[in-house]
Amino acid sequence: MTDVLTGEEKLARLDLGQLQQLVGLVEYDASADPFPVTGWDAVVWVVGNATQTALFYQSVFGMDLVAYAGPETGQRDHKAYVLTSGACRFVVLGGVAPDSPLLDHHRRHGDGVVDISLEVPDVDRCIRQARAQGATIVAEAHDLTDEHGTVRLATLQAYGDTVHTLVDRSRYDGIYLPGYVERSSTYRRRTAAPRRLFQALDHVVGNVELGRMDDWVAFYNRVMGFTNLAEFIGDDIATDYSALMSKVVANGNHRVKFPLNEPAVARRKSQIDEFLEFYGGPGAQHLALATNDILATVDAMRAEGVEFLDTPDSYYNDPQLRARIGEVRVPIDELHARGILVDRDEDGYLLQVFTKPIGDRPTVFFELIERHGSLGFGKGNFKALFEAIEREQERRGNL
Ligand SMILES: [Fe+2]
Repeated sequence: MTDVLTGEEKLARLDLGQLQQLVGLVEYDASADPFPVTGWDAVVWVVGNATQTALFYQSVFGMDLVAYAGPETGQRDHKAYVLTSGACRFVVLGGVAPDSPLLDHHRRHGDGVVDISLEVPDVDRCIRQARAQGATIVAEAHDLTDEHGTVRLATLQAYGDTVHTLVDRSRYDGIYLPGYVERSSTYRRRTAAPRRLFQALDHVVGNVELGRMDDWVAFYNRVMGFTNLAEFIGDDIATDYSALMSKVVANGNHRVKFPLNEPAVARRKSQIDEFLEFYGGPGAQHLALATNDILATVDAMRAEGVEFLDTPDSYYNDPQLRARIGEVRVPIDELHARGILVDRDEDGYLLQVFTKPIGDRPTVFFELIERHGSLGFGKGNFKALFEAIEREQERRGNL
């Protein structure tokens, strides 16, 4: 199955073994899948200032600027910067024309993810399946062509104002899409900086309204053929104040994993309620970036000023933690010093850490994840994590 590596993974010189370790890639038979998905294509953001955000992802997240579209290239409405790290691609959009619809989007939602776009081998087959299952098709299948070839695309509506653009770039060898020009970083990386801070996207979590989680699980099951991975309900992830429900769906090869959260009724406003209020509806809550050296990544990001959620000392001093996690690759003191959490399940363990929200609104944030066999999402850490989030909510006056 080496031939199923995506173009981005090959360019990033990742191999099958690394991807199995990094993101839990599994073998599966795409021929029987009515909606085969190869993997992620891009995470498309709308932000208040794409020019500065692109610099942020280069300097702080160590990403490479690879492509650009804007007024200088004939795109009058907005600027778009394409950044990559390993196989992960971000596209950052910011409105230029005063009447750009992107500015309206930003007014409603603040900085956030508008499009979780997916690479598929056959756009038309996916759209046929989506239509048959009653999905909302935002853009019918169409071609974009330039001197580098042709890309076939279509767009489906997902939760809130989020969409999934389906991309078949098998007949295209340009840098991103027609309309974009190659662009390289103007940012000069520090000499001691690691070559790359993360290699791939692991999962993207969606927050949806109370009572709608199962509808969206059903959407991904029925329309996109995703299967349910794990389930966390009720008391599993309740703290004294707030609760949420969460289910996880994944595509056939498990590259694309979508945990979906909804708020659960609790004594105080949950972090999901806070997100829904400040994002103005459902949206992408966090993106997990896969790294093979979370300690180096955290150190590099902290050195650039990224703020991570604090983990209480009690988390590391708890004798049950040591019993629960067993042997991990680094001493617990090293994890403690960086606030990195550990979780273990029957398949192995994972290390993870969460940033504070990256924008002005208490909405989207990042997770760094280093997997060692575990295909989970850190269920054993949810309580400690949510208590850390609640301390931040309280400081914002939103608990
Ligand atoms: Fe996560």
